[in-house]
Amino acid sequence: MPRRSCLAVPGSSERFLEKAPTVPADMSFLDLEDAVAPLEKEAARAKVAAAIREQSWDDRVLCVRVNAWDTRWTYGDVIEVVSGAGARLDEIMLPKVENAAEVVALDLLLTQVEENFGLPNGHVGIEAQIETARGLINVEEICAASSRLEAIIFGPADFAASLEMPVLTGGVQIPEYPGDHFHYVFSKILMAGRANGLQVIDGPFLKIREVQAFRDYCMRTRILGYDGKWALHPDQVTVLNEIYSPSQDQFDRACAIVDAYKQATEQELKGAVMFGDEMIDEASRKMALKFVSRGERAGLKRSEAPGR
Ligand code: GLV
Ligand code: MG
Repeated sequence: MPRRSCLAVPGSSERFLEKAPTVPADMSFLDLEDAVAPLEKEAARAKVAAAIREQSWDDRVLCVRVNAWDTRWTYGDVIEVVSGAGARLDEIMLPKVENAAEVVALDLLLTQVEENFGLPNGHVGIEAQIETARGLINVEEICAASSRLEAIIFGPADFAASLEMPVLTGGVQIPEYPGDHFHYVFSKILMAGRANGLQVIDGPFLKIREVQAFRDYCMRTRILGYDGKWALHPDQVTVLNEIYSPSQDQFDRACAIVDAYKQATEQELKGAVMFGDEMIDEASRKMALKFVSRGERAGLKRSEAPGR
């Protein structure tokens, strides 16, 4: 399933919960963590479970972010939400993950809840957020910790706080820094995620009124190969669905490379051939297949080429 746009929905707000299915995000997560005030957290569980059960959600990925293991809410969040939401809940997002054991603990808890409430074993997936110094150091073991893991997410706001960066807004460009202050972090998380077959997602951009700056910032992780990014507002969803999809030209070219390479290897029995003015081989096919699968996920159709 695509996760180009991942919409954050505060779990304590009936108004936002009601609106969420109408926003065309690939993935929505109903939040019990930092977007919910401590005194609202326990009441929000039932609101989130009811919204999942009773509202009509298309085929998007539907997720709940629970509170981190260093609070007193995690187990209650998981039990109440998974048992109350039923089979439509696809996954739980675990924030501030610091080591593999935290993912294993969630996996074990989910297994018991699934068994007690009639859900198939392994039904609920896990997304893990990397947003502390310790989490980044352990990201490789975290990404390999459970077969339930589907995505790894960078959380820039908490990460900036954890590193004690002298910034007051997370997830935006720091103009004074000569380069990209998160380049190492983006690359490290991407490698750990891909080595374990996970989708890799960039977190929030907090200046929600600055649409052009958001668009520019998204290009960083899009170019590195991330699958998508968080949206804090419906306008950000529109931008993300465009930016994290291949363009029609890229999609058409990738399809043409796959066809040309198939023809070369199967008909002409050659492993490397010219495609226009460029040499293509098996690695070109692998690169092209990524564009083809992402384009298909984004609903693209191949253009009619003249003569085809
Ligand atoms: C997201 O949770 C972040 O801290 O950036
Ligand atoms: Mg966070």
